[in-house]
Amino acid sequence: MRVLVVGGGGREHALCWAISASPLCDALYCAPGNAGIAQDAECVPIAADDIEGLVRFATENTIDFVVVGPEAALVMGLVDRLDAVGIKSFGPSAGAAMLEGSKGFMKDLCAKYNIPTAAYGRFTDAEAAKAYIQEQGAPIVVKADGLAAGKGVTVAQSVDEALAAVDASMTDSAFGAAGQELVIEECMTGEELSFFALVDGTSALPLVGAQDHKAVGDGDTGPNTGGMGAYSPAPALTEALQAEIMERIIMPTVEGMAAEGAPFKGVLYAGLMLTEDGPKLLEYNVRFGDPECQVLMLRLRSDILPALVASCDGMLSTFDLRWSDDAALTVVMAANGYPGAYAKGSEIRGIEVISAADAIVFHAGTVRDDGNLRANGGRVLNVTASGASIGEAQAKAYAAVDQIDWPDGFCRRDIGWRAIARGA
Ligand code: AMP
Ligand code: GLY
Repeated sequence: MRVLVVGGGGREHALCWAISASPLCDALYCAPGNAGIAQDAECVPIAADDIEGLVRFATENTIDFVVVGPEAALVMGLVDRLDAVGIKSFGPSAGAAMLEGSKGFMKDLCAKYNIPTAAYGRFTDAEAAKAYIQEQGAPIVVKADGLAAGKGVTVAQSVDEALAAVDASMTDSAFGAAGQELVIEECMTGEELSFFALVDGTSALPLVGAQDHKAVGDGDTGPNTGGMGAYSPAPALTEALQAEIMERIIMPTVEGMAAEGAPFKGVLYAGLMLTEDGPKLLEYNVRFGDPECQVLMLRLRSDILPALVASCDGMLSTFDLRWSDDAALTVVMAANGYPGAYAKGSEIRGIEVISAADAIVFHAGTVRDDGNLRANGGRVLNVTASGASIGEAQAKAYAAVDQIDWPDGFCRRDIGWRAIARGA
């Protein structure tokens, strides 16, 4: 099978690493890839959102199967376009990707199919949005409807803060077109949990638990990022909780999307709040989490490629995946300044000395020039290790981090702390 992976981050490096190990994979390409991915796949210089370029490459190079990493290409309809030229792919159609592409769409689906989530209103008019906020009071959550690179959410502690968020989004266009419509919702409290399931249009196969750390600083402080590290398993995800999430949230979503004429295929990534009234949906993503995917791939013992193809072919119901009992943990090394402004191009040394037995370094944003490895993004490296416990995996990951010589980068020193405090 000739496979093309779309994307160029740590998630796509982990996917390429896993797919390249499949005996079913004869050739592996990645667009655009990065310096680390180049060790596992042939990188082709096509941007992950260049739909025309990707379809042309896949056609001209007789690609059998495309695995789409990031959400933008999905929302833009890459899977539909590939389908139209007879090429199979892993990921939802544009219609099904609306679960991530429009928060209002997701909330309306929840309302129609009784999926537990925060009470909400949808607004295209700033004055109406403000009146709703005045009526509801604070705390209250203001969200840009469309894709805003993880930045479109304000958890407002006061009415004034919420009103300012409406102005920033609708009047000052802080999130462009994505913020011209708002979802305003009830503020929920509880512990957050990520949940992943492969879906094939009608059935769903839950994956093992994985949890990320969104805040940039130790102790989960400071501004939110795309994720500064992740670990698996997630101790909060018990078997009983998994069954409840499948029954009350995932399966009603799968059935609801099918009933709406937009059956969901791909990976459904639910952001959940564990409230006093049980798990409630915060948001859906329609792709693997980054960096959660990195720890999932490290624990996966089955061949990933047939599972991704089964999701596309509607054949997941007979499928099972095997996972290592070992825990896995990944530490994100980011460029100084991230998630604010940062410089590109600084040199990274010392990765070669990390033995594969100790850790795997997935690359999230690197380039090689004249043999030198250089930073080429905000999140740059994902230093990933496994161990009998999350604590052991953490110790191995940080031992590897300490061998990397990159003065222009930083990382959190406490990835996994919540799980480790629970004895995991
Ligand atoms: P989202 O992009 O929708 O996951 O929101 C980003 C973050 O904002 C979540 O991970 C939560 O920490 C927080 N958040 C979103 N919606 C709510 C809500 N309704 N109540 C409380 N916190 C929320
Ligand atoms: N780690 C969070 C995300 O992938 O959205």
